[in-house]
Amino acid sequence: MSVLGPGRLLEGKTALITGAAKGIGAAVARLFAEHGAHVVAVDIDADALGALGEGVPSAALVEADVTDPATAARCAGFEVDVLVNNVGDFLRPATPFADAGPDEWARLGAVNFDHALHMTHALLPGMAARGRGGSIINMTTVEAHRGIPGQTVYASFKAALRHFTRSLALEVGRDGIRVNAVAPDLIETPQVPYGRLVAEAHRDRWPLWAPLGGPGRPEDVAGPALFLASDLSRFVTGTTVHVDGGSHAAGGWFARPDGTWVNRPLDP
Ligand SMILES: NC(=O)c1ccc[n+]([C@@H]2O[C@H](COP(=O)([O-])OP(=O)(O)OC[C@H]3O[C@@H](n4cnc5c(N)ncnc54)[C@H](O)[C@@H]3O)[C@@H](O)[C@H]2O)c1
Repeated sequence: MSVLGPGRLLEGKTALITGAAKGIGAAVARLFAEHGAHVVAVDIDADALGALGEGVPSAALVEADVTDPATAARCAGFEVDVLVNNVGDFLRPATPFADAGPDEWARLGAVNFDHALHMTHALLPGMAARGRGGSIINMTTVEAHRGIPGQTVYASFKAALRHFTRSLALEVGRDGIRVNAVAPDLIETPQVPYGRLVAEAHRDRWPLWAPLGGPGRPEDVAGPALFLASDLSRFVTGTTVHVDGGSHAAGGWFARPDGTWVNRPLDP
């Protein structure tokens, strides 16, 4: 039996995406809508949400802050088959752990972890009760799998989200609900604008920084998210899809211009 169906992979499904107005979330929202999903786009940025709505006129636009638990309660009214917990943010430039304190830890926790708990908790009972199964996708990061100096607390909450993904997958599998993560790296978005962060003179170095070069585009993350949302991945749960041009696989290894590799670069 084919799992592909007639062409559009999310026909008849409702997909709620947080942080859907820009960057990765917007690319996910657009691709899901192209594949027949009724998209519920949640974002704090009203202008960007309006712009998304012009491209995806069928989308329900919810202007809200996901760090406010009332947002999850508000979203519980939607009959959601697919939930993408996409919001996440460094919130600050790299800063030593010792130079920040509990207030900042709480803000990082709210925007990188707590909202996924609230949103999932609000939508899961309906998903289970409707008996149609479901797919929950949590946007983590390569830094949930390796350390990152100066972003210790951010990375810790993302690692928690990764583990939430795995444990919840065990609990809800019998309801036909799958829970997976996507771990991006090196994707050009408003939060990580590599076009500005990397000087023009250095852009030819991308193939040395990641096996597939870079930067990646938000659409490169939307494809794997579509896979996880659709029945193509119906036997996949509790795992992570890495969308990073190979940076996680490379670890500390870097290509040299002559094609050899080094893990102790003299000119990193
Ligand atoms: N871009 C990358 O290379 C990269 C790498 C690793 C992980 N990620 C993860 O991917 C996800 C998306 O990243 P991005 O680069 O597209 O981010 P982005 O900042 O470019 O876009 C995030 C979107 O979320 C919205 N948002 C932010 N805070 C919100 C809140 N409190 N309530 C509602 N909406 C809110 C923003 O308005 C924006 O539309 C994040 O979880 C991020 O940690 C991205």
